[in-house]
Amino acid sequence: MSVLIGYATARGSTRGIAERIAVGLESRGAVELRALGDVASVRTYEALIVGSAIHNGQWLPEASDAIDRLGTEPEGRPVWAFSVSSIGATSTILSPRVAAYLRRVTPEPRAVQNLRSITDVRDHRFFAGAIASGDWAGIGRIVFRLMGGHYGDARDWVDVDAWTERIREGLVDIPRDQG
Ligand SMILES: Cc1cc2nc3c(=O)[nH]c(=O)nc-3n(C[C@H](O)[C@H](O)[C@H](O)COP(=O)(O)O)c2cc1C
Repeated sequence: MSVLIGYATARGSTRGIAERIAVGLESRGAVELRALGDVASVRTYEALIVGSAIHNGQWLPEASDAIDRLGTEPEGRPVWAFSVSSIGATSTILSPRVAAYLRRVTPEPRAVQNLRSITDVRDHRFFAGAIASGDWAGIGRIVFRLMGGHYGDARDWVDVDAWTERIREGLVDIPRDQG
């Protein structure tokens, strides 16, 4: 059985993180990288790694819909979840002060909470993504500037790799007889 890495991305930075996780897990065995919108069932996977870009505080609709669609299928499978937004655990595209505040008050996306009610979510991690001029139009651009935002790619690959390594360690104990 293999491990699913399912992702939802609007501009590509979340896909890049999913690809990096896939490379990090390659040596461990079969890993399947798929867009969450295309995942109809997870019965054939022994573990799930699922992530989405954050828009307006939540996973993208195709990611949230995928979690709803899967219903109780993830039950019994360990899940690692990640969210890609302006603010990661270790880096940010906003000012450090704004990010420190938002890290304290930002709740987990509803899709992750839903997953927790179904199965064992071993960990949920926020990673910073990337933002280009034009991603936030109009008032959004003003708010972005007020929050000390700077355009560019804030992905922390060291953090992504360290998280992947923890998943690799966590996968060691998983029974391989789920059907
Ligand atoms: C329309 C839109 C809404 C966004 N909403 C949020 C948000 O609520 N919180 C946040 O921290 N970042 C927000 N972002 C920033 C994205 O989460 C960030 O750019 C991320 O890297 C996007 O991932 P992607 O490149 O995979 O689409 C938003 C970006 C866009 C374009």
